Amino acid sequence: MDLVKRPRRLRTDERIRSLVREQRLTREQLVYPLFVREGNGAPTPVPSMPGICQYPLEHLTSALSEVVACAVPAVLFFGIPLHKDAMGTRAYAEDGIVQQALRVAKDRFPELYLIGDVCLCEYTDHGHCGLVSDGQVLNDESVELLARAAVAQAESGADMVAPSDMMDGRVGAIRRALDQAGFEQTPIMSYAAKFASAFYGPFRQAANSAPQFGDRLSYQLDPANGDEAMRDTALDVAEGADVILVKPAMAYGDIIYRTKQSYGLPVAAYNVSGEYAMVKAAAAAGWIDERRVVLEALLGMRRAGADILVTYHALDASCWLQEP
Ligand code: PBG
Repeated sequence: MDLVKRPRRLRTDERIRSLVREQRLTREQLVYPLFVREGNGAPTPVPSMPGICQYPLEHLTSALSEVVACAVPAVLFFGIPLHKDAMGTRAYAEDGIVQQALRVAKDRFPELYLIGDVCLCEYTDHGHCGLVSDGQVLNDESVELLARAAVAQAESGADMVAPSDMMDGRVGAIRRALDQAGFEQTPIMSYAAKFASAFYGPFRQAANSAPQFGDRLSYQLDPANGDEAMRDTALDVAEGADVILVKPAMAYGDIIYRTKQSYGLPVAAYNVSGEYAMVKAAAAAGWIDERRVVLEALLGMRRAGADILVTYHALDASCWLQEP
C-alpha cells in the first residue's frame, strides 16, 4: 500500500483529536424544562421520566438552587393547574402557576434566564392546545388567549416566551401584544417546527395534558413533511420569531440542519420526553452508557446546527461537562 491520504493521522491521540475537533458542547447552551404545579405537598415524581418531578411552589426554590448549583443558565417553565376548564383560564390568569413561578424565580435567582412555555393544553379540560368548538380546534380565538398568556408571563418576569401550540399567526399576535404592553425587548422562541410526535408520550403524563379526544394532527406537523416545516418556519420568521425551535430533536436532525441553513437565526433543539425516557430506561437496564449516549446525542444536535439545547438531561450533562 502506498497511501498519501491517511485520515487516521489526525486521530493518533487525544492531543491532535482535540485540536481538530469541530464541535464542542458547553453548559452555556443548555435549557432545563421544569414542571411547576399548583397545590401543596412533596414534589411529584413523573414515573416515565426518572429524575423529573412536578414541583409545587413551596419546593421551587430548592429545585432552582439545584439548577444554579449545576451551572445551567436557563429554565423553561411548564405549568400544571389544579383545575382545568374549557378556556384554559389558568394559562393567562395573573396568579396562574407559571406566572407565580416566574415571580419567585426572578426574585430569588436573577442570574437564571427564565423562559415561559405558552400553550393551552396543560390548562384546558379537553387537553387541546387551543379552544375547541364542535370537535374542532379553533385558531384565531386561541391565538388571542395565547397572546394574553405571553403578556402575563412577561409581566411576571419571563425573559423570553416560547409558544408551543402551533396555531397559525400566533407569533405575530404575541409580538404585537408584547410590544403593546411595553415588552418589545422580550424575545419569542417559536416552536416553528413542532411535529405530531409519539415521542411526547411521557410529557403528557408529566403535564397531565393528553388530548381527551382525537389527536394533534390538525395543528402539529406531519412527521413525513420537511418542506412543510420550512414553510411554517418562514411564516414564524416573518412574524418576528427571534429563535426557532425544532421538536423533537433526535429523529429530526435534517430539520435542524435545514432551519439553520435557511434562516441563519438561532436554532433550539428540544430533546423531548420520549427521547429522555428511552435513554433512562436503557441506562437503568445497563444496556447503554448513559453519560456517553446523552453527550453524543446532544453533540449530534449541535452538529446538525442547534445553538440551544432544551433537555431534561441538562443538569447531568452540565455536571459531566465540567468534570475534567
Ligand atoms: C404542548 C407541549 C408538548 C410538549 C411541549 N409542549 C406536548 C404536546 O404537544 O403534546 C412536549 C415536550 C416533551 O415531550 O418533552 N404544549
